[in-house]
Amino acid sequence: MPVEAQPENQCRTPVRVKGPLASRVERRRDNSRVRLNAYLARAGVASRRKADELIKAGRVTVNGQPGELNTFVAKRDRVELDGRPLERQALAYVLLNKPAGTVTTARDPQGRPTVVELVAQHRTRLVPVGRLDADTTGALLLTNDGELAHRLAHPRYEVEKVYEAEVEGEPSDDALAQLERGVELDDGPTAPARARRLAPNKVELAIHEGRKHQVKRMLAAVGHRVHTLNRSRYADLTVEGLGPGESRELTGAEVDRLRSLYGE
Ligand code: URA
Repeated sequence: MPVEAQPENQCRTPVRVKGPLASRVERRRDNSRVRLNAYLARAGVASRRKADELIKAGRVTVNGQPGELNTFVAKRDRVELDGRPLERQALAYVLLNKPAGTVTTARDPQGRPTVVELVAQHRTRLVPVGRLDADTTGALLLTNDGELAHRLAHPRYEVEKVYEAEVEGEPSDDALAQLERGVELDDGPTAPARARRLAPNKVELAIHEGRKHQVKRMLAAVGHRVHTLNRSRYADLTVEGLGPGESRELTGAEVDRLRSLYGE
């Protein structure tokens, strides 16, 4: 049976539910029909934007019919790319305690190890949500859930990230207050943040943005170069119990919580 095109506003999207029912509703949504580009992203083929290009180029068929941008597919549908059948992967969410010296890109021209290599034992291909500098350590989420990853990385969703920075010198109360109010960077002022002193030369900074080298640049803006940087928390997730380079799958409750906060 060919899949009917269905405009988005006619798609039956469950009402957002909080509390004990939420996980059941999310699971039901997981089994329902998904837009073709999301299906391709979930199959690990390409990002949703690139998937749209493949669809427009006529390279994707659903049950033998050319796929359209507004095609929705269900589990039983047969999706093919260039005549090769695709299968939707099970979604996986892994938290890594990123060690220093690893890169969050897929490949490194300098040959440094990648975070993806560190989680290669997990059953599916995972990509990091956002970036950490090579010398930054700590909590890094990796997933094959392209949609949730996109939301988590999008500034609109304001995921809280908490960093601990060992810095040169001893930041004053005034410097901490400036960090909280926002400092001027070359790509614009930073949003309000939370800053507190953990030791004379150690600061905890909680931010909701994710600009390149943001924490190092914020601290440099108040006169303190960062020596070491560790992300102690990403959303609700901490790497408690994980040594450097170790990873674990998120529990169902952790995934449900991320989805209820940031998934749609
Ligand atoms: N801010 C930085 O400066 N570096 C990181 O890796 C993350 C946030």
